[in-house]
Amino acid sequence: MLPLVEEILRSKQVRTVDGAATLPLKDSINAEIGHLLQKLIAEKRPSVTMEIGLAYGLSTLCICEALVKAGGRRHIAIDAFQSTMWNNIGLHHVRAAGFGDLLELREELSQDALPRMVAEGLKVDFAYIDGTHTFDQKIVDFFYVDRILNVGGVIAFDDCDWPSIHQVCRFIATNRPYRVCGSTAGTPPGFRGRAVKWAARHSRNLRLVVKPHFMRPDEELGIQASARCIAFEKLDDYVVHPDYVFQDF
Ligand SMILES: C[S@@+](CC[C@H](N)C(=O)[O-])C[C@H]1O[C@@H](n2cnc3c(N)ncnc32)[C@H](O)[C@@H]1O
Repeated sequence: MLPLVEEILRSKQVRTVDGAATLPLKDSINAEIGHLLQKLIAEKRPSVTMEIGLAYGLSTLCICEALVKAGGRRHIAIDAFQSTMWNNIGLHHVRAAGFGDLLELREELSQDALPRMVAEGLKVDFAYIDGTHTFDQKIVDFFYVDRILNVGGVIAFDDCDWPSIHQVCRFIATNRPYRVCGSTAGTPPGFRGRAVKWAARHSRNLRLVVKPHFMRPDEELGIQASARCIAFEKLDDYVVHPDYVFQDF
């Protein structure tokens, strides 16, 4: 990991572009996520990577550092508010670290940028999703990234311990040809959760009323409960079959 990233994570401070002031670090990845992203990139050796959510640039720096080592050639970052909310500090960090030529910033909303990327015929091998954390936004982000992600590529989500994003992860694992290929640490389910899951499997009446995640627990889908970052490998392109049966998630 770059000394700049380590220093920012340690001090929880970032310098403004002119160096005149410091601001508190907010909304960034932690070291565990940075290491996970770098490990996945080292394993998969992507050529083109992308992310939603540049902010102060910590995930971008981790991705770009690993991408250069893996021989990759391009990183696209979508962030609608880089200049207005983040004072271009993320962009500045990336340039200062020497990754300016690698990075293409698209300063627009992901729901506008992604359909355009599909129309451009762009393809990526690795995507990190860390924009708006509502269920509908994440599903839309996933829907479009899936269309530009090569088979064998990886999509990773931050904040999977939020109920909204956890549900998106469950949707992907149950309804799309993806498998979990990496995760930060989570906590195993407690006794009560295990007991309800066991009872639901053994009682027909209970099965009718419990939520799907008791019938098909996270562990069975490869999802670490309460893990913050979860990565999925794309196994195939999604094709809607006429006899497709939607899996409750
Ligand atoms: C949690 S921060 C990203 C942190 C960054 N990944 C890091 O590790 O430093 C979320 C970022 O997403 C951007 N954002 C939020 N919603 C967005 C959207 N719909 N389209 C594009 N960017 C968005 C925000 O401007 C913010 O920079």
